[in-house]
Amino acid sequence: MASAHASSSRMAAGWANDKRGYPERTFDTLVLPVSSSAISFDGHGVEPYEQAAVTVAEGSQAQTSLRLASTALAHAHIVAFPTETVYGLAANALDAEATSKIFRAKGRPVDNPLIVHISDLAMLRRLVPDAHTMSPAYRALVHAFWPGALTLLMPVDEAKVPSVVRCGLKTLGVRMPSHPVARALIALSQLPLAAPSANASGRPSPTTAAHVYRDMTTRDRDSGGVQGRLPYVLDGGPCDVGVESTVVDGVTDEGELRVLRPGGVGVEAIEAVLRERGLLDGAGQDAVRLRVYGRDMARDQAREAHPTTPGMKYRHYSPDADVVLLVDSAGRAMTEEVFGTAAASPAVPLSEAIGEYVAHHPRAATDRLTVGVMSMDDSGLTRALVQFERSSTASATPVQRFSLGSTHSPEQAAQRLFQGLRALDEGDEGQGTPACDIIFVEAPVDDTGVGLAIMNRLQKAAGRVVHVLV
Ligand code: TXA
Ligand code: MG
Repeated sequence: MASAHASSSRMAAGWANDKRGYPERTFDTLVLPVSSSAISFDGHGVEPYEQAAVTVAEGSQAQTSLRLASTALAHAHIVAFPTETVYGLAANALDAEATSKIFRAKGRPVDNPLIVHISDLAMLRRLVPDAHTMSPAYRALVHAFWPGALTLLMPVDEAKVPSVVRCGLKTLGVRMPSHPVARALIALSQLPLAAPSANASGRPSPTTAAHVYRDMTTRDRDSGGVQGRLPYVLDGGPCDVGVESTVVDGVTDEGELRVLRPGGVGVEAIEAVLRERGLLDGAGQDAVRLRVYGRDMARDQAREAHPTTPGMKYRHYSPDADVVLLVDSAGRAMTEEVFGTAAASPAVPLSEAIGEYVAHHPRAATDRLTVGVMSMDDSGLTRALVQFERSSTASATPVQRFSLGSTHSPEQAAQRLFQGLRALDEGDEGQGTPACDIIFVEAPVDDTGVGLAIMNRLQKAAGRVVHVLV
C-alpha cells in the first residue's frame, strides 16, 4: 500500500492525460482495501439524509484508497466498489464517455440500462426533472429502505443524464446503497455513480473483491503481467446481502408498484410499509396495487424480449458448469406457483439424478467428471447426499459440497449463493479441489423475503430442474 500512497498524485496527473479505457488500453489493476470502520456519516434529521456528510479517518488506508478511486472517477475512469448487495462497476453517471466504459469492461449489451447510486437525497435532483416530486408510495419506501437494497425507477431529466446510462429510456433506476464504502465513494467524489454488478456479463454477480478481480483481469501468459479492464477494485470484504437490489417500477402506471426484480428487500416488507401508511389497495387517491412480475403479473414474451424487465432478456448468473436445480416435493409446488415451471419428469432419488446427468454429459466417455452440490446443512437433500457419498457409485464420481447454510435462514443462502456457484465452477488449485462439471443446487422452499430473489436467480442460472425424492 505504500506504493499507492506515494504514487497518488502521479497517478492523478496520468489520469488527466490518458482517458482511454478498456479495450484501448489495459491497467495493472490494484485491489485497495477499505475498512468500513474508518468511515462515518452525519446529516440533519433521519435517514435517508437530505445531505450526508462523510468523515474518513485521517491518515487511514481507507482514506488513501477512497481518494485514489475518486480521482480516477473524476477523470472518467471506472472503479469497482463493494455495496451491501453485490460489488458494482462504477462510473460518473453524468458523463457519457465514462459510463460507456462500463459496457465495454463487462461486455454488456448496450440496451441494458444501468442503476445510478446516490449518497443523499440532494443528489437525486441532479438526475430527475426540476419539478419532480416523489409519490407518497415512493416516499414511504425511501424512508423505510434507503439507504439499502431497493432500486426505484424515477422519471429522468434527459438533459441531465446521458442516454447511454438509461439506454434511451425515460426512466432511471436509482438506489442509495447502505454500504459505507459505496456511500463514501459517492459522497467524496460528489458524483452520482452508474453501476451494474461488477461481473463479466452473463457470469454470477461478484460478492467479493476477488470475484471482481477474476472477471476483470487476465494474466499475460508470456510476461506474467496483469491486463486489467479498470485501475482499481475497492475491497470492503464479502457483501452482506449477496443478491442484487429489488427493482421497483412505480412510474409506468401511477396506480401500481411493480416489482420487476425480486432482491434484497422482500416483497412482504414493501407490502407491510405500504399497508401501515394506508397506501396499499385502498380507496385513497395515493393508494397503489403491488404486483410482482412473474408471480402476480403473467410472464409475457414480448415484455421479456425487452431489457426493461430486469434480467429476463439476457443469459444470467451462469457459470461454465451445467447448473441443475434440485427441487423436492415441497419446493415443487412452490416453483410451479411462483414461476409456472417445474420438473416435468417424475421424482427420482438423488443418486439417480446425479447418475443420469453424469452419464449424459458430453465428456462422460473420456473424463472423470466432478459434481458439485450446493445444499442446506439440515435438509433432506443433504442427508441423501451423505448416503450417496457412502454408496459404491459415488467412488466413480467425486462430489464437492458447498453449504448454503441452514434451511431456517434464506439470508444465509442468499449471501452464499453466488460465492458457491463461482467456487464450485472454478475449483481451487491451492486447496486441491477440482472445478466442477455439473453443479446441482438445492432450491429453497421458502419464497418469502429474500427467498424469492434466490429462487429467481436460480431459475436463471439453471438449465434444468429435477424433481428429487428425499
Ligand atoms: O444491487 C444492485 O442492484 C447492484 C448493485 C451494484 O447496486 N446492481 C445491479 O445492477 O444489479 P445490474 O445492472 O447488474 O442490474 C440492474 C437491473 C438490470 O437488469 C437492468 O435491466 C434493470 O436493473 N434496470 C436498470 N434501469 C432500468 C430501467 N430504467 N427500467 C427497467 N429496468 C432497469
Ligand atoms: Mg447484473
